[in-house]
Amino acid sequence: MSTAAPILLTPGPLTTSARTRQAMMVDWGSWDDRFNQLTASLCEQLLAIINGGDSHDCVPLQGSGTFAVEAAIGTLVPRNGKVLVLINGAYGKRLAKICEVLGRAFSTFETAEDEPTTAADVDRLLRADSGITHVALIHCETSTGILNPLPEIAQVVQQHGKRLIIDAMSSFGALPVDAQQVPFDALIAASGKCLEGVPGMGFVFARKQSLAEAAGNSYSLAMDLFDQHTYMKKTGQWRFTPPTHVVAALHEALLQYNEEGGLPARHSRYAANCQALMEEMNKLGLRSFLPAAIQAPIIATFHAPKDPRYQFKAFYERVKAKGYILYPGKLTQVETFRVGCIGHVQPADMREAVAAIGDVLREMEVLEI
Ligand SMILES: Cc1ncc(COP(=O)(O)O)c(C=O)c1O
Repeated sequence: MSTAAPILLTPGPLTTSARTRQAMMVDWGSWDDRFNQLTASLCEQLLAIINGGDSHDCVPLQGSGTFAVEAAIGTLVPRNGKVLVLINGAYGKRLAKICEVLGRAFSTFETAEDEPTTAADVDRLLRADSGITHVALIHCETSTGILNPLPEIAQVVQQHGKRLIIDAMSSFGALPVDAQQVPFDALIAASGKCLEGVPGMGFVFARKQSLAEAAGNSYSLAMDLFDQHTYMKKTGQWRFTPPTHVVAALHEALLQYNEEGGLPARHSRYAANCQALMEEMNKLGLRSFLPAAIQAPIIATFHAPKDPRYQFKAFYERVKAKGYILYPGKLTQVETFRVGCIGHVQPADMREAVAAIGDVLREMEVLEI
């Protein structure tokens, strides 16, 4: 059994660098000017990743990613708005659940978990219902790793004069989105994903005009992004207790992101991780759930071996003992498991992880090779 900390091959929390973890060894006061500068610098750097400095505000929010998604919908969709939710997995379903809980009118359009939503679908749906004010989309649906065609969908939404809310939780920082090319009202992500920070805060890039018009939309005090932004602009401080160590870690993670070469370099490394993973799994005879054309280099889903001796829990524990943490499948119809390609990991780690998977499956007598 490996005594080193295991490598997380999961979509967040994920493997972080020692430098990022080290940045959490300092305590910050929330009133401290230096901490407020850290927050301001963070927001500026995050906006630069989407080329959104002129058009969008970055509003950070305490909590996990879902908090930020819920806050974005609750703040930016007016109480009399209606959201078209595009679903092809669990996180799309969560968007619909958020609308339901918040009491916002919504309709859903669901495709199979291996079928991206198309711009033509959205065009047809918007023609059929003029009451829709907003469209909500998952960029990379992490429950499988499928990539939805964001640029095309964004154009259609704009042509119809509607507003787009993008959950880019698992893709932001690795897959390019330029706010000047892809029109959106809100794009949501979090600290502990492709930027390789630790979990604990989300952030919403909100179109300046839409945010300015959002006063009084939210039914929640803590989740009101208009208030959060107004307070932060006025004081430079977070409205309520900030996740200081998470902010410091994300700031340090962003320094490394830029040193690595920013988004193109991050994307290339994750693509190489995904490629290495696919090649090695293929050699073991483990089949990917998605065809390559719609697979984002973020997380991959594999069919579980069809052998009664295979049980995910036992498999997971044995692979963990060899130093790698895998992720369970999230599909209802077929038995699968997932392997993340993101985090502070390299193609060599992916190859070693698959070697460990192969060893475990042989130990379990699931694989004969
Ligand atoms: C697409 C997507 N949306 C939302 C979330 C937010 O989840 P959480 O609240 O667990 O951070 C995740 C987390 O993995 C995600 O992948």
